[in-house]
Amino acid sequence: MHRIYLDHNATTPVHPAVVTAMTAALRDEFGNPSSVHYFGQRAKAAMDEARSAVAALVGADPSEIVFTSGGTESDNFAIRGVAEALERAGRRHLVASAIEHEAVLNTVKALARRGWTATLLPVDESGIVSPDALQAALTDQTALVSVMHANNEIGTIQPIAELARIAHERGAIFHTDAVQSAGKIPVDMRAFGVDLLSVSAHKLYGPKGAGALAIRRGLRVLPILFGGKHERNRRAGTENVAGIVGFGVAAGLARAKDEGARLSQLRDRLACRTRPTSASIGPRPSRS
Ligand SMILES: Cc1ncc(COP(=O)(O)O)c(C=O)c1O
Repeated sequence: MHRIYLDHNATTPVHPAVVTAMTAALRDEFGNPSSVHYFGQRAKAAMDEARSAVAALVGADPSEIVFTSGGTESDNFAIRGVAEALERAGRRHLVASAIEHEAVLNTVKALARRGWTATLLPVDESGIVSPDALQAALTDQTALVSVMHANNEIGTIQPIAELARIAHERGAIFHTDAVQSAGKIPVDMRAFGVDLLSVSAHKLYGPKGAGALAIRRGLRVLPILFGGKHERNRRAGTENVAGIVGFGVAAGLARAKDEGARLSQLRDRLACRTRPTSASIGPRPSRS
């Protein structure tokens, strides 16, 4: 039976060029990127190339990219890392939209159980967060606002630049989960004016288990994984080199094509064909 895969928001197939690059990386870039010798430095160079490609995809500087295990870790890192960094300054209030992915919602709820206060912003009938609702929710204690760029279930795209500006006016840090939008529509950390941005490789034809958090230069974010000095002391653990290489190739491919236009065309074609015509289904059986 011929099956058609239509669940690309859950995950995408891995692009053949990504498979080729990852296979070569598993075989050839086995060195530990923290090692100073030839093999380690080769692996580090492969990772640096991927870092530049991911940075270019999201409008960040390569030094602002921290590789993680995926979107869930990036969201946890952004929220917990900022909440804990600002705790001493007396900022113990968090704001998120009510339609965030569980990676955001459950992180906010976990912090709420430990003494932070949290406000979940409602959305209107089209799934949009109102800038007025954000304005009303902000207090002088708000540490962080987290609103996703594109929703994983209904696809609404939030007015991120405007929401980030409002949050900044009250001194809050702004995080956006761009896991569903990166690689499909333009995502630009600078143009959005956000401080933190999450991405995941497996939503853009890359592998599972690789993602990144872009952290605006100079922003203090505490680590959530402790150990060695990897990722400039921000995320401990020997890096997933092959996964990161695959992520880099997928990011480069995503940047080179207009996935948004392709998806719109596919959507329009599908919408035109949802009601079968009599020609396509043949004559109806008689009722008698
Ligand atoms: C909006 C959004 N954020 C975060 C995640 C989690 O990403 P990952 O599967 O890489 O942990 C997903 C995955 O479904 C998502 O759609």
